[in-house]
Amino acid sequence: MRRAVYPGSFDPVTNGHLDIIKRASKIFDEVIVVVLVNVDKKGLFSNEERVELIKRVTKSYKNVRVESYNGLLIDFMKCEDVKVIIKGLRAVSDFEYEFQMALMNNKLDSTVETLFMMTNAKYSYLSSSSVKQVAKFGGCIKGLVPEEIIEDVVRKIKE
Ligand code: PNS
Repeated sequence: MRRAVYPGSFDPVTNGHLDIIKRASKIFDEVIVVVLVNVDKKGLFSNEERVELIKRVTKSYKNVRVESYNGLLIDFMKCEDVKVIIKGLRAVSDFEYEFQMALMNNKLDSTVETLFMMTNAKYSYLSSSSVKQVAKFGGCIKGLVPEEIIEDVVRKIKE
């Protein structure tokens, strides 16, 4: 069975993430979306909330599972016995960061491979951080995050 993990902080999940999940679910028999801690980012949603939001927007994808893990990605992958990491690449600016992470994960476990999927061009400008900025200052986030979670993002930003 071909299985892969799609890791990220997903704070919150965007239409760009969802596009990658959808495409990866057509290539792999099972895709495990895993919410991890990015030590460089301050979170808006708790990990449990992020998982709930991703579950809500992926419920029609039968081969997609959503988990969270407080630790190294490769340790999660060992527990799940998965060898492939899917990452989305938006622009050249993503490359250095993603390249470094792929090499580090490979250094920590040489049996692990990272596969990059190019983002859909219509989401190439999109990030969770920009969604939060737009929402914070009252801008419209329709089309940026899945419809089902717009209210959650707007409400959480106001809290
Ligand atoms: O969506 P992000 O914030 O770019 O995702 C980064 C993330 C969460 C995948 C990365 O920070 C991560 O893997 N965190 C868990 C700790 C880890 O395994 N780090 C890899 C070695 S640098």
